[in-house]
Parts: sequence; structure tokens; C-alpha cells
Amino acid sequence: MKLDVTPLSDALGAQIVGADLARWQDDEQYEAVHRALLEFGVVVLRDQIITPAQQIAFSRRFGALELHSIVPCRMPGYPEILLVSNRRDSSGAYTGLPDAGREWHSDSNFHAKPSLGSLLYALEIPHEGGDTLFANMTAACAALDPALKARAAGRNARYVYGSRSAENTDSALKFTMTKSQWSEIPQAVHPLLRTHPETGRKSIYLSLTTIERVEGLSAAQGDDLVAALSEHFTQPAFVYRHRWRLHDVVFWDNRCINHKAMPFDERHARHMHRTTIAGDRPY
Ligand code: OGA
Ligand code: MN
Repeated sequence: MKLDVTPLSDALGAQIVGADLARWQDDEQYEAVHRALLEFGVVVLRDQIITPAQQIAFSRRFGALELHSIVPCRMPGYPEILLVSNRRDSSGAYTGLPDAGREWHSDSNFHAKPSLGSLLYALEIPHEGGDTLFANMTAACAALDPALKARAAGRNARYVYGSRSAENTDSALKFTMTKSQWSEIPQAVHPLLRTHPETGRKSIYLSLTTIERVEGLSAAQGDDLVAALSEHFTQPAFVYRHRWRLHDVVFWDNRCINHKAMPFDERHARHMHRTTIAGDRPY
């Protein structure tokens, strides 16, 4: 089947029309999505009508799936699906993460082997707000001022879930988790500049949701470096803003793309299913 792949912005991203992720056995379709992911960093697949099992099966073609550390937000019966949702149960409690990632980040950065990519499927969207921003960390890396690049090169950052203030960390912190569930959340140290294992390109790798510190620098020096890198990669030339349509599946490459959720009027429902593909140790 011929898939129509069109770029979404100068920064990153392509839209694919004509795909059907329910046909996850289709090798040609898988190859086309994989190629587009490597070329554009973010792939938007429109008009998908898929079950949780079909989303899981398609995602698995790219690698093993992660189970999210915030156990109460896993979809009942489908632990590979993370509910990104502001729906509440009859007691008024959230059934998923209502505000996942309100600061720039890459998913599961606090794992020793962070995610390869995530697929987020929109089942209910507010008519206004709730967009997702994506930043091309490869283009940002290539355009780094040499002096700033030299400051980041060879440096590592430590990522600890919950180390940042509540507004930087998603609302997972409000969930009731057992002591042992909390203790199973890993911590990790990763380079600030990493090499994509498939394309060989260098990217900035920096998540503001959970970064605890830059190793080998004082807190003030580390904060300065993080602020300088953040100011750089968030420039409009590197950013694409995704305005969701119902039944979009957005697939991003966590190895070279950062993302950030925009706020919306909480009186409206926003309900999404996320699958998260496991990745390799950054180098
Ligand atoms: C995520 C995430 C952004 C959004 O699901 O990993 O950061 O806009 N979501 O919901
Ligand atoms: Mn995220």
C-alpha cells in the first residue's frame, strides 16, 4: 500500500495518511513508519481506529515495551498502556496521568536504558489547548555555539524521578503508590550529548522534568549550563507544535526529540493511550 508521507514543519515531523496500525503485520507499512521516524523524528498517523491490543502489537514491532513506573496509571488489563488522561473515577480520583510532562523532556529518562520511542493515541481531546510541543534535539545540537557545546561535551546529568518541583514533574507524585512501587523507580546518569544508535547523529539529551544535577559541576554551574542548553533548543526554529485531532497516533523518537505538554481547560476531557518502546543505554 502506498503511504503518503508529508513534512509537518521545517523543524521536524511528518504526517502519514493511509496507514492502518491495526494491520501491524504489514511489513511495508512498518518499514515506512520506521523510515519516517528516523528521518523526521515525529510521525503523525491520522485517523487510527485501534484497540489497546492493536496499539500494543504495532508498538512491539519496534522493540520490547516498558511498563510505566507509576503503576496506578497503567490501563487495567493492558499494563503496557499508560493512561494519559484527566478522567476521574466515581470517587473523584484520576484514572491516569492528567498532566504528563509539562516541562521539556524525553520519556523514561530516569531509566538506565531510556525509551526508544513513544506512541500516544488520542481518544478524547479538548477543543482548545492541550497541544504537545516537540523539539528537534539533533538540529539543536548541530547549531550549538561551539563554546556551549564544549561545556556540555563529556558531561553527564543525573535523573531522579520527583527531584524537581511539583509543577515540573507530572502529577504522578499525587498518586497512591506503595513503598515498594516507589522504591522500584530507577535513577540514571546520562550524557548531555548523545549519539543516535540508528542514524549516528548527535543530539542534546536533557530532560527538565527530572534532572537532579549535572555531575562534576557545582549546583549553580550545572543550573547555568542546563538553562543555556534549554534556551537554545527551545528556539522556534527547532520546535513543532502538534494540534491534536481525534484518533491521531503520534509516534516520537525519544533518542533525538524532546516534548512538552501544553495546559488546557481541565473541565474538558483529554484521554490518551501511550505505549512506550524500550531503548538502549545512551552514549
Ligand atoms: C507523554 C507526554 C504529553 C501530552 O505522554 O509522554 O509527555 O501532551 N504527554 O500529553
Ligand atoms: Mn512524555
